[in-house]
Amino acid sequence: APPHDDSKLKASEESLSASNRPISTVLIIIAMQTEALPLVNKFQLSQAVDPVFPKGVPWVRYHGTYKDLNINIMWPGKDAVLGVDSVGTVSSSLLTYASVQALQPDLIINAGTAGGFKAKGACIGDVFLASEVAFHDRRIPIPVFDLYGVGLRQTCSTPNILKDLNLKVGKLSTGDSLDMCPQDESSIIANDATVKDMEGAAVAYVADLLKVPAVFIKAVTDIIDGDKPTTEEFLENLAAVAAALEQAVAQVIDYINGKCITEL
Ligand code: ADE
Repeated sequence: APPHDDSKLKASEESLSASNRPISTVLIIIAMQTEALPLVNKFQLSQAVDPVFPKGVPWVRYHGTYKDLNINIMWPGKDAVLGVDSVGTVSSSLLTYASVQALQPDLIINAGTAGGFKAKGACIGDVFLASEVAFHDRRIPIPVFDLYGVGLRQTCSTPNILKDLNLKVGKLSTGDSLDMCPQDESSIIANDATVKDMEGAAVAYVADLLKVPAVFIKAVTDIIDGDKPTTEEFLENLAAVAAALEQAVAQVIDYINGKCITEL
């Protein structure tokens, strides 16, 4: 009999069974300490001492069990030289990669704050579940490279979460700047984004690379098309909005407990 390659069939069977058994290990990627700590307290997680990460990196893992879930919150930690949170796409993609390799999660949740566009329905304190994510600061005006730069990705489909929980839905656009220059603004409009962050599309890239379903929960700290300067508004609202984010992530965690990816 001719040899036949059934590796593709096996792979699809495996991924089918992975999405059809209850979610067990959850990886939550959060860039800022102020965003992470309310959730660490809520789920009574403890800081891991085991060396799942290379020696000397500032990355921090908080872990514990909550109901039937093994919860891991990963925070990229403080910059070794400057002492501020390691925000942005570079550290979040590295952290996501290393965390997935170490923990083999069933689901990734990228949670954090974001800027919102009031013209697209965003208000301070709103929490959005992103329907798709893309970059707005990777301009490569050569055919097809332009699309690679934008890096549009669909997020894990969650119709039941949207039906049952009180979250808004919108597109997320990611870039490495808190402010917004005119070129970024054009790309964000082209991306049809309601919220703008500094990690989402990078986490989505790694999740896609390693074939792990990912969802993006973003709470609005500042209105980009409003009157207040972004930095002021962001810092003013950060703590209160981190509490709103905590509530929303906790609701999602309660919701996914005992469910499969296909039931979300
Ligand atoms: N996080 C919170 N506000 C933001 C903004 N305006 N842009 C990017 N990331 C943010």
